[in-house]
Amino acid sequence: APSLHDDVEKVLLSAEEIEQRLTELGAQIAADYAEEPPILVGVLKGAVMVMADLARRIDLRTEMDWMAVSSYGSGTKSSGVVRILKDLGTDITDRHVLIVEDIIDSGLTLSWLLSNLRSRGPRSVEICTLLRKPEAARVEIDVRYVGYDIPNEFVVGYGLDFAETYRNLPYVGVLKRSVYED
Ligand code: PRP
Ligand code: MN
Ligand code: MG
Repeated sequence: APSLHDDVEKVLLSAEEIEQRLTELGAQIAADYAEEPPILVGVLKGAVMVMADLARRIDLRTEMDWMAVSSYGSGTKSSGVVRILKDLGTDITDRHVLIVEDIIDSGLTLSWLLSNLRSRGPRSVEICTLLRKPEAARVEIDVRYVGYDIPNEFVVGYGLDFAETYRNLPYVGVLKRSVYED
């Protein structure tokens, strides 16, 4: 039977590797915010898997909220134009905010989101991202928690999509070229 996995050229990070790293980050976050828990802000839709697996490894009375922004549409390149599709339901004034992301590629999405959230008067804003592509950076962003730095390849899975599909792959992988070409 045809399988979603047939479209994957190679697995970059296995489900086990991701889980291990998120366990480390969760412990680090719990220690850093022991005095006052942050509100976790997940960036829909890509951060859904990271949020679900990271939040369960942060042993604090934390809250979760979501923003939906999109800069990629259905293509593979960032347009740089960020749209808010859904805003927070929480007032973050005087709160510690920890943004949870799946990937920092060009950095344009987060750089925009950072200044948007900072304008709301939070106590602090930090970032936790599972993946970062140092070679693709178009803006420098200070990131407190990074799971893995990865090469500049188009990756999918574990929340990351190509044309809205492949988010449900349990690992992070690189698609076969044939998937793009036809
Ligand atoms: C992807 C990804 C990050 C962003 C990173 O989101 O989830 O949010 O792009 O790219 P950048 O650093 O170049 O800005 P996307 O806009 O595709 O929306 P999605 O999360 O719904 O897939
Ligand atoms: Mn995203
Ligand atoms: Mg996307």
